[in-house]
Amino acid sequence: MSFRMRCMPSGSLPNRLKVGRYAGFTLRWNSTVTRDPMTGEFTALPDIEPARLQVQKTDSPRPPPPASNLVFGHTFTDHMLTISWSARTGWDTPKIVPYGPLSLYPSTSVFHYAQTIFEGMKAYRDEKGKVTLFRPDMNMKRMNSSAQRVALPTFNGDALLHLIKELIRLDKHWIPQQKGYSLYVRPTMIATEAAIGIHPPADALLFVICSPVGPYYPRGFKPVGLYGTTEYVRAAPGGTGAYKLGANYAPCVVAQKEAAKLGYEQNLWLYGPEHNLTEVGTMNLFVVFKTEDGSAELVTPPLDGMILPGVTRDSVLALAKDHASGKYKIPGLSDKLVVSERPVTMKEVKQASQDGRLVELFGTGTAAVISPVDRIGYMGEDVLIPTGPDGMGPVSKPIWQELVGRQMGSIPSEWSVLVTE
Ligand SMILES: Cc1ncc(COP(=O)(O)O)c(C=O)c1O
Repeated sequence: MSFRMRCMPSGSLPNRLKVGRYAGFTLRWNSTVTRDPMTGEFTALPDIEPARLQVQKTDSPRPPPPASNLVFGHTFTDHMLTISWSARTGWDTPKIVPYGPLSLYPSTSVFHYAQTIFEGMKAYRDEKGKVTLFRPDMNMKRMNSSAQRVALPTFNGDALLHLIKELIRLDKHWIPQQKGYSLYVRPTMIATEAAIGIHPPADALLFVICSPVGPYYPRGFKPVGLYGTTEYVRAAPGGTGAYKLGANYAPCVVAQKEAAKLGYEQNLWLYGPEHNLTEVGTMNLFVVFKTEDGSAELVTPPLDGMILPGVTRDSVLALAKDHASGKYKIPGLSDKLVVSERPVTMKEVKQASQDGRLVELFGTGTAAVISPVDRIGYMGEDVLIPTGPDGMGPVSKPIWQELVGRQMGSIPSEWSVLVTE
């Protein structure tokens, strides 16, 4: 009998094993072994098991609204996936049920200590009706790493992905036909132990909801202005910036609000005495400098624990690196490209802007894919950033075309994972 990877909150169970065979079970590196309190026997708790899925379809399916009426994150499909977990019995039966409210006691720990993590990914439908996800394995890995950071239970990512595909297949008619539309998929996990007190939760709930969404830029790219936030930090060394925790987002709202009050669309998270650029609102960040030999240097801050390891960031980097090395050429992108993961400061960006060496600056994320920036409000003045005629720069535009082609299926890619033909 084989049990898959799992990791439990430390101290929640009396016995834990990392690897090997135990009591006749083949165990992966973080299988959880516990001793039955009654019999003293060693047992392994069940992981998420797609074969146990129970589906209860809605009795009152809703007609999806016209695509033109969609507001991001406001409309949800007919069904949701729920899987509950307990430290005593592991992952329970996965269920697809009608989308609806959860019933939780006011004492539930998620309400008090923000023990909640989430993911964001999109399902795309091509003209022939084929539905795909883009690099969903990365979301599963990131969700497990977020879970581990806040002592929520981990799970087999392949098993959850299998169930997410089932949910998408059931609600695929909610993905609008129009170009640029998709289904935003939001896996979430919350601690559901109904008790006050901060410790690894004894109970948790994993749920997945889906929301049809439109293109981020329905009327062409519109570069945004950023306010360089120096009053607050999003993340710090040893903190939680590299994880997708609900707790990381609530404190950002004030900074965003203040940026908006000053007339900027987003805020730019700066860190440290040198005002290192880290992230743009809830996106990763790239800067392009012109180098002395006339090449373009595409720079993004390294994954130093303060940066969320974005799927889009990783994809932009992988495409740009393959282009620079000659492994895979992106049409329209200059050969003179250098790709760097290194710290970048406001002093460097400001100087490059003054010297005419700043080529472009953009954010990356699942929602917008690439979001060009045309100015940064910094210490009382605006640092100006060039943008191309249609809003995008000479490096981001070809990369965006390649990325979107792979997401939508017009460019074949192993990153595109089939949900249904
Ligand atoms: C803080 C933050 N940074 C970056 C990203 C971009 O990540 P991804 O490309 O995986 O959407 C997100 C969105 O998930 C985010 O919330």
